[in-house]
Amino acid sequence: MGAKFSLVRGTKDILGDDVKVWQGVESCARRIFSLYGYREIRTPILEPEELFRRSLGQDSEVVGKQMFTLRRSGDDTDATGPGRIVLRPEGTAGVLRAFLENNLDKTEGLVKVYYLGPMFRAERPQKGRLRQFHHIGAEAIGSFDAILDAEIIALSAEILESIGLSGYDIEINSLGCAKDKQRLGDNLCRQLKGNVSRLCRDCQRRYGHNIFRVLDCKNRDCRNIVSGLDISLQDYLCPDCLSHFSLLRDSLNDIGLRYKENRHLVRGLDYYTRTVFEIKHPALGAQDALGAGGRYDNLTQQLGGGAAGAAGFALGVERLILAMSSSAQDAQPVQQGLVFGVYIIGLGDDARRECFKVATELRKNNILAEMGRGERSLKSQLRRANNSRLRWALIIGEDEMKDNCVLLKDMEKSLQEKVRRGDVLKSLRPSGELRAMNFPIEAKPR
Ligand code: HAM
Repeated sequence: MGAKFSLVRGTKDILGDDVKVWQGVESCARRIFSLYGYREIRTPILEPEELFRRSLGQDSEVVGKQMFTLRRSGDDTDATGPGRIVLRPEGTAGVLRAFLENNLDKTEGLVKVYYLGPMFRAERPQKGRLRQFHHIGAEAIGSFDAILDAEIIALSAEILESIGLSGYDIEINSLGCAKDKQRLGDNLCRQLKGNVSRLCRDCQRRYGHNIFRVLDCKNRDCRNIVSGLDISLQDYLCPDCLSHFSLLRDSLNDIGLRYKENRHLVRGLDYYTRTVFEIKHPALGAQDALGAGGRYDNLTQQLGGGAAGAAGFALGVERLILAMSSSAQDAQPVQQGLVFGVYIIGLGDDARRECFKVATELRKNNILAEMGRGERSLKSQLRRANNSRLRWALIIGEDEMKDNCVLLKDMEKSLQEKVRRGDVLKSLRPSGELRAMNFPIEAKPR
């Protein structure tokens, strides 16, 4: 027998009840997106490497260290030169590529899209940090309005609320326009100049290439130095960017959304201008960001299009689920009660054929019906019915075949009755709504 295979490091199988939790999170997100007028977009996992170099920045950690580049066996032409292909490390750049390539800037006004799917970064795997992880993200392209930034932040918080997650903190900051960012960078360089030799080796390099990255270095010495920096919006934001940020804050206050301002919040991807935000959760430990986003007004132009204001965010699904399971009692990842459905048990070949007919009839009527794998003993089939967490067990044996009826067992009330074969549907229906697609997450009552 050949050796078994193992998972690639930093990836995960999602199995059993966990799948229900994922489906629950995804369906909550889809519901909220449609309330906010966002439509789904599906872009490829494979994208040109150059797309990310130009949008995330040559000096970003993601581009510098974490891209999975593809090498095609047999024909290596794609793995060399400008045509290299990568597994997408994030969703924003691909959405903008699709936006420009399909001329959506010319045909639609404000384009609001959302996406769910896997992203890939060659990081050192640890809790909450994977090499294949999943984003629930949204991008709104075609507006410079600060109220759009407020909408994006509110939308991401609303998704957290919808899955019953609480205890998170929203942090916001403004980097300003390109000129303001330059001013902020110069200001940081000036303040850090005397301390460069005390920074960690990575930050000494960042000092020359990407000064903003020094602000979120985890090294204790760097953190001490950074905590002493004097950063004030007035020192680097132009009047337009100041009033943009103040409209954002007012709009968040208007809807009562709580946030903190964090002048050290800069984000690791180069495309951000003006608003940046991050949502953190204390249950996550060192990798405490549930999600993040902000405005990226210059990206369409950097990718060859015209000017178009844009903002977006992405939540990390694995981290959402981690936070749900390790924190709030009000988040119930798996439904506790029974699911409205029927586990069908047939004893003998003829009865099993009849069961298959019953199952088909129920399914055509939107009732979840499961058939076991045909064990001989009633006891073991009933055990499986119990484990299935379906509300009903329907049993057909020799006697039932003879009498043209079925035995219907209510697993919740531990009652059973004989029902005529033609009355099965009628007997199930009055007991509740048809909830064949029962939703596994109890959404928080609002
Ligand atoms: P990001 O901060 O790189 O932003 O990723 C967003 C979220 O993805 C993080 O807050 C985290 O929850 C999750 N995440 C990131 N890396 C990993 C990993 N290795 N393992 C597990 N989870 C991870 C973006 O990607 C931007 N595209 C967000 C955005 C959209 N900005 C504007 N529009």
